[in-house]
Amino acid sequence: MKNVISSADLSRKEIEGIFASADKFKKGTAKTSLKGKIVALAFFEPSTRTYNSFDAAAKKLGAEVIGFKSDIDTSITKGESFADTIRIISSYADCVVIRHKFDGAARFATQVTQKPVINAGDGKHEHPTQSLIDLYTVKTVFGRVDGLVYGIVGDLKYGRAAHSLIYTLTKFKPKRVHMVAPKHLRVEKEALSSIGYEYDEVDDIMDVANDVDVLYVTRIQKERFADELEYEKLKGSYKVDNGVVNALKSNAIIMHPLPRVNEIDREVDKSSKARYFEQAANGVPVRMALLDSILGGKNE
Ligand code: NCD
Repeated sequence: MKNVISSADLSRKEIEGIFASADKFKKGTAKTSLKGKIVALAFFEPSTRTYNSFDAAAKKLGAEVIGFKSDIDTSITKGESFADTIRIISSYADCVVIRHKFDGAARFATQVTQKPVINAGDGKHEHPTQSLIDLYTVKTVFGRVDGLVYGIVGDLKYGRAAHSLIYTLTKFKPKRVHMVAPKHLRVEKEALSSIGYEYDEVDDIMDVANDVDVLYVTRIQKERFADELEYEKLKGSYKVDNGVVNALKSNAIIMHPLPRVNEIDREVDKSSKARYFEQAANGVPVRMALLDSILGGKNE
């Protein structure tokens, strides 16, 4: 595995290898080290979890971290191109983790550097490392990813975390996937063309609440709307509250890649079904496993 740009870059075997390795990092039994390696974080778009969990993961492995959290700190503000910025920062590092507002930015970066590129979210396209965290979390709760019913809720049009999850699930055997979105935020038709598992598209969470094992909620991606008025019309069009929680099966779980705006009521946090904070915490061991496999960590 060299570049991780889209979910298609990871085979089921590689994903399962990452899960097994993440388990060891979580338990503290892994012995591997990235001492002497440098990980570049090139974040051209805001991030809390992804930036900091890559940062923590690299440091826990003994690597050094360079980079930036916003292009305001870079020579982009002086007119430098994205390509030159990537060329330079990757020449100082062993791999580069990129987040950008444009679809395809991470793929483009692979054309200007020989170093491994990890896509940490490109526009509305994909966020493949987020789905590793998502399905790792599912695996830690249920012991498996296969055979479960998933409900993917929210902005399935612009949400890159939702897109990558929909694609990554094609490597597994979900029992069924309900895509739950208001009409204007449904998955683009072409994205569904290569999906081999059973799925349907519904408007209302309540229609699937008693069927799902995993309710994966996402926020409306306000920043991707060309027209603010369109966002205003859709804002608040779905919400997970205690009514939804009570309609779920007793062992079902609620996930969210975060940040949450108001699509999950704060009262839901107290429910044992709410797993989104645990999911966020899994970002560190999963990204440790990914960096280790890409940079070839050495046993100490
Ligand atoms: C997601 C993203 O950036 O796409 N956040 C994350 O990385 N956890 C989801 C989102 O912003 O809605």
